[in-house]
Amino acid sequence: MSEFSAEIKRRRTFAIISHPDAGKTTLTEKLLLFGGAIHVAGAVKSNKIKKTATSDWMEIEKQRGISVATSVMGFNYGDYKINILDTPGHQDFAEDTFRTLTAVDSVIIVIDAAKGVEAQTRKLMEVCRMRKTPVIVFVNKLDREGKDPFDLLDEIEAELHIHVRPLSWPIDMGQRFKGVYNIYERKLNLYTPSKQYVTENIEFKNIQSPELETHIGESQAAKLRADIELIEGVYPEFDTDTYLKGDIAPVFFGSALNNFGVKELLDCFVRIAPSPRPVQALERTIEPEEEAFSGFIFKIHANMDPNHRSCIAFVKICSGRFERNAPYKHVRFGKMMRFSSPTAFMAQKKETVDEAYAGDIVGLPDTGNFKIGDSLTAGEELHFKGLPSFSPEMFKYIENADPMKAKQLAKGIDQLMDEGVAQLFTNQFNGRKIIGTVGQLQFEVIQYRLLHEYGAQCKWEPLNLYKACWIESDNEEMLASFKKRKAQYMATDKEGRDVYLADSGYVLSMAQQDFPDIRFHFTSEF
Ligand code: G4P
Repeated sequence: MSEFSAEIKRRRTFAIISHPDAGKTTLTEKLLLFGGAIHVAGAVKSNKIKKTATSDWMEIEKQRGISVATSVMGFNYGDYKINILDTPGHQDFAEDTFRTLTAVDSVIIVIDAAKGVEAQTRKLMEVCRMRKTPVIVFVNKLDREGKDPFDLLDEIEAELHIHVRPLSWPIDMGQRFKGVYNIYERKLNLYTPSKQYVTENIEFKNIQSPELETHIGESQAAKLRADIELIEGVYPEFDTDTYLKGDIAPVFFGSALNNFGVKELLDCFVRIAPSPRPVQALERTIEPEEEAFSGFIFKIHANMDPNHRSCIAFVKICSGRFERNAPYKHVRFGKMMRFSSPTAFMAQKKETVDEAYAGDIVGLPDTGNFKIGDSLTAGEELHFKGLPSFSPEMFKYIENADPMKAKQLAKGIDQLMDEGVAQLFTNQFNGRKIIGTVGQLQFEVIQYRLLHEYGAQCKWEPLNLYKACWIESDNEEMLASFKKRKAQYMATDKEGRDVYLADSGYVLSMAQQDFPDIRFHFTSEF
């Protein structure tokens, strides 16, 4: 294998996702700890927005400011280069998480052992399923009383609609929790719990050894042996290819806070998780090991300092090698650009990089040249698919509150939408502008940023809608009659496509019944 191929093959680019509070931040930190990227846990600030601060916008800003540094965490672990993409902890920024999922090759889902599968997990899993992203599940907080591990496996299978295969197994739980047996490597490491450091451990290669009893007691030793026998009997042998196809999710148990089960997860993860996968462009499939560089912008992070209206555009490299100062084509503009200070994040430090490879993420300082979904290439006309917008869940009319600043408002809305802060629809009936978000906080973000970055003032008017559906049909007559009947509810998205704004679930299902030839899509890509 050439050095170039080896560089790409050793990359593991993934995101950790969870329902808030399941332990995503803690697990991320522990992976960094075991990976040697940090030496003491607790040192890394996450972009988690504390629940108590949700009404305090400035506080959120401060916390979000931190998140630039933690947007991508890269570190070397053994022969592997690991890139963890951070996702916002707050549900109101779920759209950010959806987009981040377009830039990863696999995902680790964290589930709280006591709570099981929660709403946000279900939603994120839908996106993974749509994209056939391989997922690994980490069941966390075994140091607390939780649900029975076998029940949890059934629950994950039923709720997330994916087959499961445990690859580690807990020895009891709560106060009696002793550690996890590594099914993947068929060995047991008993650690002394530590919240901050990696501690010494005792290794058992054979759990049949009577010595096990002296460490974890008779009943627990017997239970562990019985459980493992049952698992090996019930679940088929783990098959990496089935996991890579997204058909089966390996499950690990542990306690991130106490370092239990984390190394088991990490060691298995680097071995089975995919290296950069081919990416589909409109024109053709891009293989990561193609020599020519290509990539797309999946996230734009605004600088919150109003005096410097600059952003960082995050590029996921799809193929080849990215080089500092090399000319690359901004496909939407059709012009060549050079980047003198691309940044990457290694072991928590943001630094300028001279080169990066397929699978890596680089941050490009930007003054408004990029929008989400833009492609950069060595020259080829490529347009990447797979950056869908999802139907927003909250809608409001946006109105100008300062007649002198109409231009600034229009520009501000335009740029914020390009950054992917929310979605803009224009009502075809009355021409009014509608902003759609997944959470209340985003309206506050928009209002604040319009004022501070563009000097524009907006006001919101309530609008009760259920969902936005992108519609299409081969039956033009039916489409025309639908649009006529629903004239007041027809809108246009930023790309000029027809969107039907359904005001209730009932009305939507009636519409689906009455207009069978119309296809209603809940994401912008179909
Ligand atoms: P999130 O990013 O998914 O939202 O979750 P986060 O890691 O912040 O964890 C949420 C809470 O759960 C934190 O407590 C964290 O300490 C705790 N936690 C994480 N892993 C474990 C575990 O293995 N066992 C137990 N018992 N708790 C765990 P908090 O009190 O909300 O925050 P903090 O003040 O401790 O930071």
